[in-house]
Amino acid sequence: MKELLTILSEEVGQAFEKAGVDVSYGTVSLSNRPELCEYQCNGALASAKKFHKNPVETAEAVAQVLSESGTFSEVTVAKPGFLNLKASPEFIRDYVSGMYDDEDRLGAEKTAHPEKLFMDYGGPNVAKPLHVGHLRSAVIGEAVKRLARFEGNEVTADVHLGDFGLQMGLIITELRERKPDLPYFDDSFTGDYPAEAPFTISELEDIYPAASAKSKADEAFHEKALAATKEMQEGKRGYRELQRLIMEISVADLKKNYARLNVDFDLWKGESDCEPYIPGMVEDMKAKGYAHESNGALVVDVEEEGDKKTIPPCMILKSDGAALYDTTDLATLIWRMKDYDPDEVLYVVDSRQELHFIQCFRCAKKTGIVPAEKKLTFLGFGTVNGEGGKPLKTREGGVMRLEYLIQDIEDAMYAKIKESSADMEDSEAHEIAKTVSLAALKYGDLKNQPSKDYIFDLNKFISSEGDTGPYILYTIVRTKSILRKFAEAGGDITNCKPQAPSGASDKALLERIALFSAEVRSAWENLSPNILCAYIYALCNDFNHFYHDTKILTCPDEEKKAGYIADVLLTQRVLEKAIDLLGFAAPEKM
Ligand code: ARG
Repeated sequence: MKELLTILSEEVGQAFEKAGVDVSYGTVSLSNRPELCEYQCNGALASAKKFHKNPVETAEAVAQVLSESGTFSEVTVAKPGFLNLKASPEFIRDYVSGMYDDEDRLGAEKTAHPEKLFMDYGGPNVAKPLHVGHLRSAVIGEAVKRLARFEGNEVTADVHLGDFGLQMGLIITELRERKPDLPYFDDSFTGDYPAEAPFTISELEDIYPAASAKSKADEAFHEKALAATKEMQEGKRGYRELQRLIMEISVADLKKNYARLNVDFDLWKGESDCEPYIPGMVEDMKAKGYAHESNGALVVDVEEEGDKKTIPPCMILKSDGAALYDTTDLATLIWRMKDYDPDEVLYVVDSRQELHFIQCFRCAKKTGIVPAEKKLTFLGFGTVNGEGGKPLKTREGGVMRLEYLIQDIEDAMYAKIKESSADMEDSEAHEIAKTVSLAALKYGDLKNQPSKDYIFDLNKFISSEGDTGPYILYTIVRTKSILRKFAEAGGDITNCKPQAPSGASDKALLERIALFSAEVRSAWENLSPNILCAYIYALCNDFNHFYHDTKILTCPDEEKKAGYIADVLLTQRVLEKAIDLLGFAAPEKM
């Protein structure tokens, strides 16, 4: 189905043509004076100069043509040449009926130009717990992925684990100091290694930061870690096995945490998967004259004319020959292009890494790793702050683990549910708390423009009033409960079809519903799930007005009642589709 405003614009465009002006002036938008009209068109004013016509006269001629169409119930001209429009109830009924009959896509067409998109989000580091900084990449990335797919694009999502060599070397070196007798450190050992890993995830989470701190303070330790990394990369048997175990344990833990966030990936590749491509890439950059030495390091200049600030060169190799963050992102692009040939690679990463991506993107284009016609996009997100506006920390001032944050919000939600429904079974209350708190967390994040920082305010997030996840879910649960009661009273939903709205609140509701496809498209095109959040919040408000305004189940007119029930069902479908695209779900009751 065409979008609502497209249909209206085409109709008004034709009227312009009949009035002797070009069709292109018919663009209709939502009214910015909703108390006056629903839609508006300012084309008469815009056309005045070119067509040497008085805008009021043009608008009146257009209004005359439109008065004969069934699409509008009211067309008025306001000085100095605005067209104020109201859609006819029958037109709205027909439009939403098309959505009603298309349960799967609710009338939304797929894009005419689908692209192959490769997404890089999540970006956790192995052997380190997810912290609050990883929340936004996962939540925004997942929503953007779902939007892109819904629009008909082919998407591959890669978690891009931080698992590069030195990290492993550090862990191995620290483990060797703690448990030197393990068979992995015995070069003469030829038997099978134990099935069980010599550490748990919590031990790993302790080993890694300890090793990392040590290597900064102790040069000898750092050297040992470098040597261990090298040996591991060259295939030393015991170290390879340890690397495998570290990955296995960390990835299992990460998968569990992402599943809890309703976030998933097609690929669980890591930074280290680019290692085989580094030597060839470096040779090529040297041979073609892109890379040169600077203070012992190997760099590629990426400055461009017109830069407002200096963009430092891309660092390809450190003076000791070690690879860096730039190196892994560039070499990773090599296999992404070779194996997936995407039209676009989209990174969802903290805004503070923007410069790194500017450098890498320029270098990848300049050196031909990525052909000129392909898109490299950086979607940077702002920080999650605490009450004071400073990055969210634990009470003790440490890094906030994502797991604890999720637990806090779930516990608070559980307490709230028990408070209002004391007789609910604990297990049911826990289930509901899980679902609702996830919506609270994700919606609280997604409703903000990605680039903006926001304050994590637990009580606000879990409130069932205002622009919150729980408010959206309450509204969905309300639609479900109306439909359940209707069925329990013997109502047959298959007899229900949308009808022409008869009042202000059902008309406003249906007109909002009719905007669904345009809002989803806009959220995708602008990489802004917040656009979809704003839409569903408005839709919930419209629905609740309608609900308070209308006798639905007790409506004495059976035909009217059937129409209302169809409106409720359509509201439910649109809201549930939208929250699914955002990456959360609603419970049956709450
Ligand atoms: N692991 C990195 C970090 O925690 C984020 C990775 C982002 N993605 C990328 N392709 N560099 O900061």
